[in-house]
Amino acid sequence: MEYSCKDLKVGKCEGEKLVDGETMPLVLQPSEPNKNDIESLLLTLRNNKDWFDQMITKNSAVLLRGFDVKNAEDFNEIIETFGWEDIRYVGPAPRTHVYKRVWTANEGPLSEFIYYHHEMVLIKECPKKVILFCETPPPEGGETPFVPSFRVTERMLEEFPEEVKMIEEKGLKYSFTALSKNNTGSMRGRGWEDAFGTSDREEAERRAKALGMDMEWLEDGGVKTILGPRPLTRVFEGRKGRRMWFNTMVGMHGKELSSATMADGSEIPINVVKRCEEIIEEESIQFKWEKGDVLFFDNMALLHGRRPSLPPRRVLVATCK
Ligand SMILES: [Fe+2]
Repeated sequence: MEYSCKDLKVGKCEGEKLVDGETMPLVLQPSEPNKNDIESLLLTLRNNKDWFDQMITKNSAVLLRGFDVKNAEDFNEIIETFGWEDIRYVGPAPRTHVYKRVWTANEGPLSEFIYYHHEMVLIKECPKKVILFCETPPPEGGETPFVPSFRVTERMLEEFPEEVKMIEEKGLKYSFTALSKNNTGSMRGRGWEDAFGTSDREEAERRAKALGMDMEWLEDGGVKTILGPRPLTRVFEGRKGRRMWFNTMVGMHGKELSSATMADGSEIPINVVKRCEEIIEEESIQFKWEKGDVLFFDNMALLHGRRPSLPPRRVLVATCK
């Protein structure tokens, strides 16, 4: 679909890549310099809603750049324009509510790399879209790199056809340990009370069940959540039959608070995990955040992460069904 919209101009950004014929991210700018105000942008989005939505699926990542998007209120207006339903975040990342549908992105220390993931990949219903807004670009680092997920599957199949087949057949099993709120000395993640939105153990168990998790309470007041079997790859409608690397094997394998094994408990060969980590990095795409950037991710198609940065950095997020 090479249709372009007359109200937006296709631009370029440093770091963009051509992947299987599509530019990632697709940069969209004001058609004329004086049309960069928020009202013009909202009108443009309202008039081109369906087209814009198709572009997100087609290019996997769309970057609105050069518009005067100032704050969480403006960002929220942009989100509301599309009419996509909100989806509440569930997971270990510390996040703060900012305004209506807008939250801070992961508030973990800026010095840490947040490893590549599909947002809420382990939850039954995960967001189709993850939308980010850059209020304060970091002085150095702090990119939000992303990876076309199907490329990881393709390359893993080239190098490890047997292993991929085996893991696919068996499925994956994950565990994640959430400490108790009273016990989290560091910013390693939130306590289970915050993660499940309750301090009541039975209620937390009910909520965990509803999300497809089992729980084991630990002596120190924390809890180990176990999930599985979960698939290695998935194919989603409308995405060219691409097989997405829809798992968090590398992110959770062999960590202090998490694990990933095959669903029957057998270990995933370490060379497979290590090489997969390299492939993900090799396939990653990144650009430098600019103030006012709004980035739309197709969460079904992309893994994303966060590189370490110097402060200050403020990127806000909204997640949609
Ligand atoms: Fe994320």
